[in-house]
Amino acid sequence: MKEKWDNRLAFVLASIGSAIGLGNLWRFPYIAYRYGGGAFLIPYLVALFTAGIPLLILEFGLGHKTEHGAPYAFASYRKNWKWLGWFAIAVAFGVVAYYTVIMSWSFIYFFHSFSLSWGAIPEVFFNNMVLEISDSPFSLGGINLPILVFLILTWIAIYYCIYKGVKSVGKVVYVTVILPWVILIVLIIRGVTLPGALEGLSYYLTPNFSALKDPAVWINAYAQIFFTLSVGFGVMIAYASYLPKKADIVNNAFIIGLSNCFTSFLAGIAVFSSLGFLAYQTGKPVADVVASGPGLAFVAYPTIINMLPFGNSIFGALFFVMLLTLGIDSAFSLVEAASKAGSEQWKIPRLRLNFLIAAIGIFVGLIFTTRSGLYWLDIVDHYLCNYGLVIIGLMEAIFIGYLINTDSFREYISSHSEIKAGRWWSFFVKIAVPIVLLVVLGYNTYYEFRNPYGGYSTAALVIGFGFLVVLLIVAIIFSKKERRL
Ligand code: PHE
Repeated sequence: MKEKWDNRLAFVLASIGSAIGLGNLWRFPYIAYRYGGGAFLIPYLVALFTAGIPLLILEFGLGHKTEHGAPYAFASYRKNWKWLGWFAIAVAFGVVAYYTVIMSWSFIYFFHSFSLSWGAIPEVFFNNMVLEISDSPFSLGGINLPILVFLILTWIAIYYCIYKGVKSVGKVVYVTVILPWVILIVLIIRGVTLPGALEGLSYYLTPNFSALKDPAVWINAYAQIFFTLSVGFGVMIAYASYLPKKADIVNNAFIIGLSNCFTSFLAGIAVFSSLGFLAYQTGKPVADVVASGPGLAFVAYPTIINMLPFGNSIFGALFFVMLLTLGIDSAFSLVEAASKAGSEQWKIPRLRLNFLIAAIGIFVGLIFTTRSGLYWLDIVDHYLCNYGLVIIGLMEAIFIGYLINTDSFREYISSHSEIKAGRWWSFFVKIAVPIVLLVVLGYNTYYEFRNPYGGYSTAALVIGFGFLVVLLIVAIIFSKKERRL
């Protein structure tokens, strides 16, 4: 018998568990900060409704109908499109390689919480004491041992979470989905009552219409939506393949999409009120109180934790445990998608496959544990998400919109949904998604070659596109292999 979720709630929770993760508390705030706060929210919401939810419905439909992981889901319609599934898995793999490194940082912060060792200036602590950051991507400076040790621990935890397959996922998520909301609310209450918080919040919430002309804002909004909804990684395809036949696709996509983005919005309130507080303390404008990169969460949250009236250490520790629990169900959804795909193609037992994935994950992750790891992480994340994910989303839309019978696919979805996937859905898949994504992609590629990302000069182009090309090649090689069952 095929594996199935215990019940509908287990599926919803597991998908929310996959969606809500570091993407909400760590990635969303710094991307929003980098792209102008209030300038970012509008494109973000547009991206949610014009591509995020339609593609989530698409992936759920595909997984539910074919009952396969990504590669065979596509291949069951068109044999030579298996590469797209593998490419999604490969990108997912690239993401999980650094995702687990951020979890490793969180582990380290968990221990530092007890003594609040980040002190009064968390930014300096993060760069100099935790990362011991070097001055450029190519001065690697050797491996940072604690980060590596906790990276390995993270992978052990992930391995144990999935070792029983999807049934155990259904249970772990009850804890990992609910605790975070409680903690976030406490942080928000303290955050918004800090002096200066209002200034930070107004930076976050005041729309800036002139920024809408900047194509970088748009591509980052779409990429963030894909990342945060776990769309474009093959993850939601794999999860939906475990759904019982009687399930609700469209409803679930809306519940997951909306609750996920609401969580990010809340995290933004906490982070931006803390930025307002830092601006108040230092006298600098909110826009440049701290570096707007992947370190932001490790500066902004400790700043609030410092200011709690009592129980700072306990609360800090709780917060970082929460980051870990949030991260872990997202991370194991990535591993699950890869291992489902692998097990459909090769006759390797699941456990061994998971072990293999963990081992390669640690190996690839090594680069992010070096003293220049932060730069690599920043660059790889930028290219995998802005190009990898966006290309996959585009291809999925073209595939379902033009290469198969879209109407019968849509009817299939509707027959498994309370809210029907009406013609609006076909409109998004056939027209809106392809056009928008092509435009932002084209424009940004052009721009990227003229101004390599983040002032890293050509190093960024080489590392970023290099990573992406390697993943694509691996995907193509895998897709040539025949199923051996
Ligand atoms: N959606 C997760 C997050 O926001 C990240 C993730 C991406 C998880 C892809 C699984 C697959 O953190």
